[in-house]
Amino acid sequence: MTDGPAPAEELVGRLLEASVGAMDIVAVYLGEQLGDYRVLHESGPANSTELAGRTGTAERYAREWLEQQATTGILAVEDVSAGALERRYVLPTGYDEVLANPRSELFVAPLGRFLVGAAAQGPALVEAYCSGGGVSWAQFGDLARTAQADFNRPFFEHSLVSGYLSQIADLDAALRVPGARVAEIGSGGGWASIAIAQGYPSCRVDGYDIDGPSVELARANLEASSVADRVRFHERDAATVDAGAGYDLVCAFECIHDMPDPVAVLRAMRALAKPGGTVVVMDERVGESFGNVGDLIERLFYGFSISVCLPDGLSHQPSVGTGTVMRPSTLQAYVEAAGFAGFEVLPLEHDLFRFYRLRL
Ligand SMILES: C[S@@+](CC[C@H](N)C(=O)[O-])C[C@H]1O[C@@H](n2cnc3c(N)ncnc32)[C@H](O)[C@@H]1O
Repeated sequence: MTDGPAPAEELVGRLLEASVGAMDIVAVYLGEQLGDYRVLHESGPANSTELAGRTGTAERYAREWLEQQATTGILAVEDVSAGALERRYVLPTGYDEVLANPRSELFVAPLGRFLVGAAAQGPALVEAYCSGGGVSWAQFGDLARTAQADFNRPFFEHSLVSGYLSQIADLDAALRVPGARVAEIGSGGGWASIAIAQGYPSCRVDGYDIDGPSVELARANLEASSVADRVRFHERDAATVDAGAGYDLVCAFECIHDMPDPVAVLRAMRALAKPGGTVVVMDERVGESFGNVGDLIERLFYGFSISVCLPDGLSHQPSVGTGTVMRPSTLQAYVEAAGFAGFEVLPLEHDLFRFYRLRL
């Protein structure tokens, strides 16, 4: 814990600054949804009339958004002294990676969709906080659903196999054997299952998700991939999957903390693993215990927890109500209740995620 709270005046300044940051996120949401960043990247510098014409939006709004983007330091201006209608704006080199390239590891624009999607449920959140009920993943809708999928996509595509699964030597060997099988629990937009099938050409992958629109999204993403013949997405509550103990790898990425009954799901995961198989959970890299006051990662995950993950988890009762900040000790209690002999934290570095290998 720290020495104590900062003076009230400092809090005022901090919250004003945070509001400006929140407005940047709203502007990123607009720019991504309307295609402004993509058009500026693909077609080059534009004034407000040109941008509005290319995106099919209203010039007056385009002008204000462009001015805001330049003022906040995201877009550059060719000639600041030009008149408001003539002034042309530039997406700086490299910024397309952050704002308009869904395959780039720098792509964080989906945060706009995620946070606006959460804020749109403000009144429902207030109601849930009073009643003890929840706001479901379905209610957060496509903004959160697609933002989640798009935010994790670059990591799954570029690194999941090459930097993580392949570092677990016995698992890597098992997944290279013809006929190897993988079950992904809580597969969301499907990018992890697709990446595993791409990284391991002998593997067949089953993705299971309880959310129908997520399964549809995953199937659409799969359709456009090169591995459609080796991956299947199933709309199922993972706790009820009883496909037999046939999987070499059973994995769950960033979803156990969302589940009302994680023990039931972990029990099902244990039953799906073949003897000698591997069960991996990737979840948030939060501290071992409460008290990391001011820590950026901890603040980020508590922010997601109060606005999305805890309300999602509490939206189906009975629920253990985990929230995003699932500490290792919490997961340990779940895995032991599910019949595992504990877990090992794998020595795999990531700023946001910790990788647990569950002992069968
Ligand atoms: C935060 S998203 C993570 C999605 C994906 N793994 C990723 O990293 O992008 C959590 C996912 O878990 C799914 N989920 C929650 N409870 C589930 C359950 N009981 N069975 C299967 N899927 C579940 C949700 O529908 C959602 O798609």
